[in-house]
Amino acid sequence: MSLLIYGAYGYTGELIAEEAVDRDLDVVVAGRDKRKVRDLAARLNCKGRRFDLDAAADNLDDIEAVLNCAGPFVETYEPLVEACLETGTHYLDITGELSVFEAIAERDREAEKAGVCLLPGVGFDVVPTDCLAGHLHDMHPSADELRLGFDPSGTISKGTLASVIEHLDEGGKVRRDGRLVDVPPAHKRRYIDFGRGERSAATIPWGDVSTAYYTTGIENIEVYTAMPSEAAIALKYGSGIVSPVLGAEPVKGALQTLAKTVVSGPSEKQRREGVCYVWGEATDGERTVTARLKTPETYALTVDAATTAAARILDDAPAGFETPAAAFTPEFVLALDGVEGFF
Ligand SMILES: NC(=O)c1ccc[n+]([C@@H]2O[C@H](COP(=O)([O-])OP(=O)(O)OC[C@H]3O[C@@H](n4cnc5c(N)ncnc54)[C@H](OP(=O)(O)O)[C@@H]3O)[C@@H](O)[C@H]2O)c1
Repeated sequence: MSLLIYGAYGYTGELIAEEAVDRDLDVVVAGRDKRKVRDLAARLNCKGRRFDLDAAADNLDDIEAVLNCAGPFVETYEPLVEACLETGTHYLDITGELSVFEAIAERDREAEKAGVCLLPGVGFDVVPTDCLAGHLHDMHPSADELRLGFDPSGTISKGTLASVIEHLDEGGKVRRDGRLVDVPPAHKRRYIDFGRGERSAATIPWGDVSTAYYTTGIENIEVYTAMPSEAAIALKYGSGIVSPVLGAEPVKGALQTLAKTVVSGPSEKQRREGVCYVWGEATDGERTVTARLKTPETYALTVDAATTAAARILDDAPAGFETPAAAFTPEFVLALDGVEGFF
């Protein structure tokens, strides 16, 4: 029962590969760089496989599940999903990219027919928020509006920044009456008690605007993150001016190059000590229910969640497109190390 981790020598992929080997999973580390794959496989004492994405189908025949850690995922998910459907291999990834969730959800029927599980978003984005969404839906089944949010601590990795830059010019998104609707970034602001007192927060186009709909069926969804109100105002009113500029290829390219040079992911100490608060409310206009989670730092949570999800899929995989809470129940998040909730 082999698990192939693609993008395994990236910042997050390497942490996940280490954890998967520690948990005695039968790991194959993979990616497009021969030397980096060879060095990592030697260090972790596991198998390694170098291949480009357009040759993925030729490399998955003996593989039970792929965990894609190569982002931005808008550039990597499609060839891997195609190859998984062709070879009968389960697919997981750690994307947080809304358009990627939507595109993979469209492959539901094909995946069901092929007996393949397609499970994107098994990192911090979207495991805790998705499980919270499922829990709120269980608490209030007739709720038709869902608001989710998180208050993270710490820094981000090169790959996360690259993914953010890739989607910078797309503005904000919310779900209304079941449809994804374009809105300016930070179009709504409010104060939220995520679990450590009230903080200023604003809407962002987080993955749950896509996934929470599939988990709960709730048709109106907004996702908030804690941010200073000055930043939210600048985002909202500045977006009309900067979006066309940010979307231009030379500007995106320059930002990507800068990101690769100057950003490194959180240190071991930051991952060990960081915490994050996750909040959600569901309402039908008359009754509102609220719940929260406290989790470890976002990358630490990602490593645990992705490895645990992959192990469960190797053991028993549903067929079709899945969200984490739908595949494993909302209690999945509570099984992860250091998670407190629901409160
Ligand atoms: N869901 C979550 O909460 C969560 C948490 C952590 C990270 N992430 C996401 O995971 C992704 C990776 O983050 P990271 O910090 O590990 O980044 P990173 O250190 O830059 O690593 C990126 C990895 O992806 C590979 N890659 C990128 N584009 C590729 C392509 N077109 N073909 C083949 N391989 C490709 C890279 O290989 P090369 O070096 O050969 O380019 C590298 O192995 C990002 O999109 C990030 O946003 C999500």
